[in-house]
Amino acid sequence: MNDQAAKPDWRMGGITAPEVEDYLYAMLPPRDEVLAEMEADASKNDVAIVGPAVARVLYQLAAISGAKKVFEMGSAIGYSTVWWARAVGEDGRVIYTDGDHKNAEKARRYFDRAGVSQRITVRVGDALEILSEQKEPYDIIFNDVDKTDYPRVFRLALPRLRSGGLFISDNVLWKGKLRRPNPDDRTKAILEFNKLICASKDLFTTILPIRDGVAVCVKK
Ligand SMILES: C[S@@+](CC[C@H](N)C(=O)[O-])C[C@H]1O[C@@H](n2cnc3c(N)ncnc32)[C@H](O)[C@@H]1O
Repeated sequence: MNDQAAKPDWRMGGITAPEVEDYLYAMLPPRDEVLAEMEADASKNDVAIVGPAVARVLYQLAAISGAKKVFEMGSAIGYSTVWWARAVGEDGRVIYTDGDHKNAEKARRYFDRAGVSQRITVRVGDALEILSEQKEPYDIIFNDVDKTDYPRVFRLALPRLRSGGLFISDNVLWKGKLRRPNPDDRTKAILEFNKLICASKDLFTTILPIRDGVAVCVKK
């Protein structure tokens, strides 16, 4: 195994001790051909995906909660979307959103090959605008858009989640930069977002220090 295969870019690091992180990834079962190809594609083309350790948490959360309707904000080549689609089952529905047409085209091809196209609606455009249009409540809203938008996503997502539904966000520990001096705009936005989700009386929140930090919020 070369270095690139051993440590693809999407692993990130900076949160847990490197040897702990290595152990966690070494323990993961292998993925099927399509997911493995998506992981290699993401690493080669610098696409920031959640990767398999976080994806398995997402899958578990959907499975445990019996989620059937997932709204994903920031889907890129559709890696996390495939995991959601498999977790919700044949009668489930996942909304893919991304601002980039090329990402969506590539994602569609992967969805076909993964056998989950029927469960996924692909929407290209601003995920926050598309979410604003939604009338029916979702079981899960997954937030992985540009980090400066996180506080705005918090305000938009809550009313569109059913009671008992999950609001899940990636990158909330932001490469370990949250406690460093002179935070940049993305870091400031994540600091504000984390305060909002942790202080909200409408949410029960935990932050999982896995990969780059995953916030799991249950709507009361
Ligand atoms: C981190 S990647 C998503 C990775 C994906 N969730 C996965 O794990 O496989 C973020 C993606 O969100 C898209 N994006 C960022 N802000 C967006 C917005 N406001 N609306 C739609 N897409 C957005 C970017 O084009 C990028 O492809």
